[in-house]
Amino acid sequence: MLRSVILAASRSPRFERLVETAPYTRDVVRRFVAGTGTDDALRATRQLVADGLAVSLDHLGEDTVTAEQANAVRDEYLGLLGGLAQAGLTPAAEVSVKLSALGQRFDERLAREHVRAICAAATAAGTTVTLDMEDHTTTDSTLDILAELRKDFPGTGAVLQAYLRRTESDCRELATAGSRVRLCKGAYKEPESVAYQSAREVDKSYVRCLNILLSGAGYPMVATHDPTLIAIAEDRARWFDRAPDEFEFQLLYGVRPEEQARLAGAGHTVRVYVPYGTDWYGYLMRRLAERPANLAFFARALATRR
Ligand code: FDA
Repeated sequence: MLRSVILAASRSPRFERLVETAPYTRDVVRRFVAGTGTDDALRATRQLVADGLAVSLDHLGEDTVTAEQANAVRDEYLGLLGGLAQAGLTPAAEVSVKLSALGQRFDERLAREHVRAICAAATAAGTTVTLDMEDHTTTDSTLDILAELRKDFPGTGAVLQAYLRRTESDCRELATAGSRVRLCKGAYKEPESVAYQSAREVDKSYVRCLNILLSGAGYPMVATHDPTLIAIAEDRARWFDRAPDEFEFQLLYGVRPEEQARLAGAGHTVRVYVPYGTDWYGYLMRRLAERPANLAFFARALATRR
């Protein structure tokens, strides 16, 4: 219920204005978002890599509606990849891309061209791209684009969402040699016809998908903060004889940093997903919808007046 209200607020321009102008929300944003520009992204990456963590950078923005916006997003990624290579931060850092930010919703051909240019730049920079997964209406298109990209850029990563009923089958398809697959629970509000609705059903699906990925031939990327699922993944990885370079954990910037350090200290590969950019509102609201404790922190910031 609370999650639905917050996800609805994430689509409200009025609430967005309130959040962006409240004096203390900046502190909340800073906890989950690395900053607004490429320099901020590089600074956060340098620190995380120095701490022994890998990184996937996400330039915030989704649902692009014009070709000019899509071109600007492509250019931002090209600049970022150049900056990462120059700073010697590849291959520790890669990038995550939302196809909707490249125009997928209004011109799929344009999004294909742009993501291909980003993959070529990533290859030149010595790193990889992962295609974030958005709401279920985009899943087929995204997996189709992924299949095409992998012919030329085999390291391109996919994301599968355990809350979708189709995902076990997609895991079987994608658990092949060299295939990088990030498994997450899923962050969008989806109808019952396509997605499990209860947390328990989603968690059970996550474990079934984990088993398929960890017992398969690909490279699983276990993206969750859930202590139970992390413990199960550690156990299954041992069971399926996965060496530290044969799978990785992924967590979001600012979420459970002590767990990120613990997993890295235990010898696992840990990648932190680092969002940056001025368009942080939708991302922040999804994080708040996931965790009421964050919401209390946020509400205090909104209510405080200088
Ligand atoms: P959930 O939110 O259910 O939390 C489970 C438990 O984890 C909590 O009960 C608590 O114990 C612990 N926990 C969670 N947050 C915490 C916090 N802030 N502090 C302390 N403990 C906390 N989604 C999507 O649809 N498409 C995508 O491409 C991606 N990409 C992606 C990349 C990466 C690296 C991650 C980690 C996640 C995504 N997601 C995503 C988001 C994902 O689908 C999901 O919404 C969030 O990860 C939240 O789900 P959790 O698995 O963390 O569990």
